[in-house]
Amino acid sequence: MPSADAERCLRRFLEANWLKPFDAVWDASVASVLASMLMGEPSLDMGCGDGLFMLIASGGRVRLSYDRYTDTRLRLRGDLYDTAASMTRLEATPPRRLVTVGLDHKAGLLDKARRTATYRSLVQGDGQALPFAHRSFATVFCNILYWLPDWQAGLREMHRVVRDDGRLVLVVPNDTFGGQLQSHHRAQRYRRNGRHWRARFFEWIDNGRFRTLTRLTGHRAQWEERLTAAGFRLHGAIPVLHVGAVRRWDMSTRPILHGLVLLGRALQSLRLKGLLKRLIVPLLARRVRPWFAKSLAPSAEHAALWVLIAQPVEARRASVETMPHHEEARVR
Ligand SMILES: C[S@@+](CC[C@H](N)C(=O)[O-])C[C@H]1O[C@@H](n2cnc3c(N)ncnc32)[C@H](O)[C@@H]1O
Repeated sequence: MPSADAERCLRRFLEANWLKPFDAVWDASVASVLASMLMGEPSLDMGCGDGLFMLIASGGRVRLSYDRYTDTRLRLRGDLYDTAASMTRLEATPPRRLVTVGLDHKAGLLDKARRTATYRSLVQGDGQALPFAHRSFATVFCNILYWLPDWQAGLREMHRVVRDDGRLVLVVPNDTFGGQLQSHHRAQRYRRNGRHWRARFFEWIDNGRFRTLTRLTGHRAQWEERLTAAGFRLHGAIPVLHVGAVRRWDMSTRPILHGLVLLGRALQSLRLKGLLKRLIVPLLARRVRPWFAKSLAPSAEHAALWVLIAQPVEARRASVETMPHHEEARVR
């Protein structure tokens, strides 16, 4: 059974993601693991995006009238909605603890993150060439490593900016991940059998996620090898998010999401959205709870993600000193 804190965390993520409840299961599972960790300052959230994950993971909350789909632009191609569109109406209860710096390469997302009041400062930059001095951070958190075209450069940079006694906390896909993305596999099957319309439908649902999310997966030993090669020692690998939850997340409400977002907007203009969410969020919580419970401590074979905790190894000193200088900002 999830603890009362974990249940609260799930409800808060559902409030922000009520139209895609398995997004909430994913985020709440990872956040529940992070809740037991000390994120010492100065801390960096590398690839912070719109800041909603860190806001809620750090004990904050969005108001019921607000959610991820409020200030987005609907699109017919590519992503269903553009989350980088500016956030004009965010209302949030600030978190209990702040993160020192949030970094992302998209200005629109940083603008949103600013309104969450979760970060002491926000920096626009590339995760593969961090604009910070050597050994700036006691904690570096990153759940976007697989998004980086050159993830080794990303690891090297995080290694450079973390203190000798600091910690790296990474959220990365397990090698089980790709097998769960059924929309991609179905699309392939239909394509092979010449059923192109069906194939196109499932390709639209997949929307390139298979390619992104399976670029860099691995079981524990593979991750340990990658971290060791980058100069880290792996201290802990916590399996999280049940593969069954990822199967449901893959399809989720995607086929009808456009309609749901439009409905949500209509309700918002009638000032009924908050009221409806007050009724629906507890029902959604009850429905997804079994998957959330399984996602908090799955076995390694049934986990879709790892939360990895690593520290730089002592021998790094000389190599860090000889690395090229970037445009640096000192972090206090
Ligand atoms: C899936 S989002 C995750 C955002 C946030 N960490 C969260 O959990 O909600 C991936 C993020 O990585 C950022 N990103 C991708 N490539 C990047 C890069 N090279 N440098 C900095 N940020 C990058 C994107 O802009 C986006 O905000």
